[in-house]
Amino acid sequence: MPTFLGKIGLKSRVLRCQKHISRLSTDSSSLELPPCNFVPPKYTGAPIEEAVKTRKQHLFPSTHGFAYYKKPIMIHQGHMQWLWDSTGKRYLDLFGGIVTVSVGHSHPRVVEAARQQMDKLWHTTVIYMYPTLHEYIEKLMKKMPGNLKVVYLVNSGSEANDLAMLLARLHSGCYDIIGLRSGYHGTSPNLMGLTALSSWHYNIPTGFGIHQTMNPDPYRGIWGGNKCRDSPCQTDRGCDCASAKSCAASDRYIGELEEVLRYSCPKGRVGGMFAESIQGVGGTIQFPKTFMQRAFKIIRDHGGVCISDEVQTGFGRTGEHFWGFEGHSVIPDIVTMAKGIGNGFPMAAVVTTPEIAQKLAAATHFNTFGGNPLACAIGSAVLDVVEEEGLQEHCAKLGTYFITELGKLREQYEIVGDVRGKGLMIGLEMVTTKDSKTPLPAASMAQIWETTKDLGLLVGKGGYYGNVFRIKPPMCITKDDVDYAIHVLRIAIENFLKQQPKA
Ligand SMILES: Cc1ncc(COP(=O)(O)O)c(C=O)c1O
Repeated sequence: MPTFLGKIGLKSRVLRCQKHISRLSTDSSSLELPPCNFVPPKYTGAPIEEAVKTRKQHLFPSTHGFAYYKKPIMIHQGHMQWLWDSTGKRYLDLFGGIVTVSVGHSHPRVVEAARQQMDKLWHTTVIYMYPTLHEYIEKLMKKMPGNLKVVYLVNSGSEANDLAMLLARLHSGCYDIIGLRSGYHGTSPNLMGLTALSSWHYNIPTGFGIHQTMNPDPYRGIWGGNKCRDSPCQTDRGCDCASAKSCAASDRYIGELEEVLRYSCPKGRVGGMFAESIQGVGGTIQFPKTFMQRAFKIIRDHGGVCISDEVQTGFGRTGEHFWGFEGHSVIPDIVTMAKGIGNGFPMAAVVTTPEIAQKLAAATHFNTFGGNPLACAIGSAVLDVVEEEGLQEHCAKLGTYFITELGKLREQYEIVGDVRGKGLMIGLEMVTTKDSKTPLPAASMAQIWETTKDLGLLVGKGGYYGNVFRIKPPMCITKDDVDYAIHVLRIAIENFLKQQPKA
């Protein structure tokens, strides 16, 4: 795997790279989306202006901010990695809803499974036996390592994490839970305090019993170097460590975790710790390689359980492994999953050990829709498609290519501060200058973003400062799609730079 060296020699590499890249086209007139043989039906519904008006009148104002672009688009059809708007314009979707469409929009195999099940039985609950439930959980359990043998099916990532928190507290007999700053785990009242991004907080008490430790972010954190990450692309920071195994940054972040346990938790006790295997909403943040292993050991030594939130990183997206936590060489006590599990259908799951699951039997616990026949049929088809189409292996190969190509943008442009990720879970952090790491302001991000959309490319945005482009597409994208995306990003950055006043 290629690595990107420290700051020494950066200038000469930039010059060499600029010579090569100046030959690459930044002209948008020759741009053509990779071909697609699906022909969508013409949109015949109400115009977008009406949709905007209705949203403004009848949807909670808190949701308006999610209507992404200055000139919004109305999506009416999806097919695999493609979306079409109400005018018939086609887009390459590199965000998959929000990291939710795993195998492809309206994947024919998943659609067929849903259709067949809808004809038979939409709804019943665990009060009866029904075939799709046991067929699905048998398949899902084959994907779980160690003693992770028991599943509770729910409907959303927030529900899964709420249940995981309850299980951690019941099992450990301790109320205190640790989370990582910049982590996102959902927005239920319970989880608002675990989600450690202030833009998601209201001025009300939340997170009783939850403590956040310093985020082990090798790019923007206090400590980090160019050997920390499990990624084809390293930070441009220097590093004196002999190897990633003796990581000084990891030592220090672990020291911070120990301080939180020492000062904030009842002596020697903790209920558990939540961590995403790669932070998603927080901006595709990867931790130093040994951090998770060491954190899990410490949490267990204090009586707590380790919870991996695989809502974004599960189902093959990170490429090398089916689950993101496997990339950290750990086996959690509880795993939560959602989003990609149903390729956009609302379903989620909590998987744990029989011993931990037993604790929930102390009272009655029920979920009306969790594990309904339709969800199980869809989840089952998603697992089949990931397997049969080799999507995990595809993510590994294509993701490495994508990240390496994005790394070239970082070498070329001062405003591309960092490129990171693994498989098709990728982040591009934008800054005013590499040295300052000042986040590129929101208006500048919006300008680049609007151009990418106008050129038919949809990417996400995230990070505490909203300055990270998030690339987490349906896992079926191709090399031609990646080349197209790189081309568009280059044009969008060039257009933005051209409009800046000369220094
Ligand atoms: C890592 C992670 N966990 C949990 C959630 C919450 O999932 P949901 O929105 O389905 O409640 C999200 C949602 O974005 C997420 O990214």
